[in-house]
Amino acid sequence: MRLRAVLFAVMIFAGLLAVPTRALALGNGLALTPPMGWNDWNAYKCTVSEALVKQTTDKIVSSGLAAAGYQYVNVDDCWMANSRDASGNLQPDYGKFPDGISGTAQYVHSKGLKFGIYEDAGTKTCKGRPGSLGHEKQDAKLFASWGVDYLKYDNCYAGGTVQQYITRYTAMRDALAASGRKIVYSICEWGVHDPWTWAPALGNLWRTTPDIQPSFTSMLSIFHKNVGLYATAGPGQWNDPDMLQVGNGMTATEDRAEFSLWAEMAAPLLAGNNLVGASAATLSTLGNKAVVAVDQDSLGKQGRMVSSTGGLDVLAKPLADGDVSVVLFNENSAAATISTTASAIGKSAAAAYTLTDLWTGTVRSTTGAISASVPGHGVVMYRVSGGH
Ligand code: GLA
Repeated sequence: MRLRAVLFAVMIFAGLLAVPTRALALGNGLALTPPMGWNDWNAYKCTVSEALVKQTTDKIVSSGLAAAGYQYVNVDDCWMANSRDASGNLQPDYGKFPDGISGTAQYVHSKGLKFGIYEDAGTKTCKGRPGSLGHEKQDAKLFASWGVDYLKYDNCYAGGTVQQYITRYTAMRDALAASGRKIVYSICEWGVHDPWTWAPALGNLWRTTPDIQPSFTSMLSIFHKNVGLYATAGPGQWNDPDMLQVGNGMTATEDRAEFSLWAEMAAPLLAGNNLVGASAATLSTLGNKAVVAVDQDSLGKQGRMVSSTGGLDVLAKPLADGDVSVVLFNENSAAATISTTASAIGKSAAAAYTLTDLWTGTVRSTTGAISASVPGHGVVMYRVSGGH
């Protein structure tokens, strides 16, 4: 035992073993599991309003999504007036938010949910409203006074070197820490300067990719960019492959694929659709508690690709109770059989394993083979128990 430990240490020292390391964490005690909630941007862009936020808040509660874990109601770009006031404070667009942001936040809080907002690290937001550059402390204090619980911090009208990015995102990290309120910090620089290498020390989550579109092609390319970044994810620090497009135009099969892949990658689960008018199918996809439990598992491991052959992928995510979540994902359009084994997904030898299908609820037993026919663009997702 001792000899093995010494050998192991020597191998690491000699660089013979690649041990993925996690960068120093922000450690603000927030987002110990990936944030869940809703953000208006994917479905509404600049037409966000207080009325929309209130109706959506009500729907999150009445549909059961709040009970399933959806907690943050996040307002994206275009909530602001075009200029700061005489004291340099940001102002809500009162035409859209008659009760201001504080009144809107108060409503969300009164329903037992948390409230998030959007700003930008540059001189302007992507849609041209005033940015926070040079106003970080003042803006963070204002957000805290309004009752903001979550800040998505974008990167338009900014640019520059990685060091300039780090300086700007650090300024807002420090401003939030001094604001007097616990605020989840979501860094949104679209994966430009490999944020997974520096953002864990600054934020709770960081976008790893350009904006997601409501299409299978876009979802697939974002999945590919995010899936290899598992080493940096963990409690309080998450890779963010962008908000969900479930309910925004992909097929029901593709929606289930996105939701499963995002959960398997321990991604934030931020619904991005019209929840008020959502179909029963969309609500049941978003509300699948067995899949949500994989995303929210306390171990906080991002699942990784175990094998990928000709667009037929197997992903595995170890869970806190020793189970492993497996996603069989068919990137192609024709149905295909995808196979793996208990040993390939990291299970120790056992006489039998139990496979629970997280979309149908069916339970069956296997001596080791894990295999299913998977529809084109679809997934089969199992929770595997037994062995260690
Ligand atoms: C960028 C972000 C999006 C959204 C828009 C708002 O494109 O990546 O998620 O916030 O800005 O303008």
